[in-house]
Amino acid sequence: MSGIKLLATGSALPQHMITNHDLEQIMDTSDEWITSRTGIGARHHCQGEECHTSLCLEAAKKALERSGVKPEEVGVCLVATLTPDHLTPATACVLQKELGFQEDAICFDLNAACSGFVYALHTAECLLAASQRKYGLVLGAEVLSRVIDINDRSTYVLFGDGAGAAVVEWREEFPSIHAVLGCRGNDQVLTIPGVNKGVPAVVHMDGQDVFRFAVEALPRCAREVAQKAGITLEEVDRFVLHQANQRIINFAVKKLGVDPAKCTGNIAHTANTSAASVPILLDELVQKGEIQPGNKVLCVGFGGGLTWAGALLEVAQGREGDTK
Ligand code: COA
Repeated sequence: MSGIKLLATGSALPQHMITNHDLEQIMDTSDEWITSRTGIGARHHCQGEECHTSLCLEAAKKALERSGVKPEEVGVCLVATLTPDHLTPATACVLQKELGFQEDAICFDLNAACSGFVYALHTAECLLAASQRKYGLVLGAEVLSRVIDINDRSTYVLFGDGAGAAVVEWREEFPSIHAVLGCRGNDQVLTIPGVNKGVPAVVHMDGQDVFRFAVEALPRCAREVAQKAGITLEEVDRFVLHQANQRIINFAVKKLGVDPAKCTGNIAHTANTSAASVPILLDELVQKGEIQPGNKVLCVGFGGGLTWAGALLEVAQGREGDTK
């Protein structure tokens, strides 16, 4: 046995919020169309000095401060993202410098699209175990407003910017998060061309194919995590599900047969923030007291790749180091 527990969270959303009614003024869409098909009412977009790095810094500082973990104690820092400010240096390397992690901290970004934060949690658990370091800082962050095409109403309305961070503690005696990660390579239904493609790097999506994938992958992944952890879905205190579309969540919750009150989200004001979606929601629920120490939280992400990832994250009672 060995694993990580959640110590603290933080998040950051850009100041500027764009409602569906604002979008009605600039494109052929309606609040009724967006709300009824997705549950989205608003999204946040970076403006001015705000950027991927500034959102990450804000979320990371909050999480570290709340955890009581000092920057020099951070052994692993991972940023899940597909919209970093730089292809190099990785955002995690910028955080090393700005926050003052030691030079032997393992810092890198990873891209598993909307599953990225849960991929990063699992990677952090493995790296902390391998390096015998105690504390990890895991972020999911996106500035999707940079990769959406204002001329494509079917994708523009869906995405937003934001960052979420989690400080985790690794211990030999902690249970694993029992991560389930998967990938079904597909470069057709959800893509953003790379910098060398010679075409604009904007989201291309076949919404209905992605919808069909999501309503199958999300509940399957949640079940597999519970099975791997040896618990029933009823024993899960809280589900933190990727906020891509309220209808996808409703389908999945029904398929799983779990209490919808344990699966509420924040898509109405964040829209889909890809890798940032799970950690932003995690933070909002912790700050509202809806996730408490000792709770078992089942997180699931799914999306581009196509990828999926789930994990059972237990919330620590406080720093283990403080009680020993
Ligand atoms: N406002 C108004 N009308 C819109 C619109 C918008 N923003 N976007 C598309 N439409 C129109 C289409 O042009 C189409 O019109 P037509 O029938 O005259 O051709 C109509 O609405 C239906 O389009 P369709 O794409 O079939 O809608 P849909 O019911 O499948 O809903 C999504 C589209 C994107 C909301 C839905 O497919 C979806 O949520 N898919 C999953 C996307 C997702 O979650 N991706 C991220 C995964 S991580």
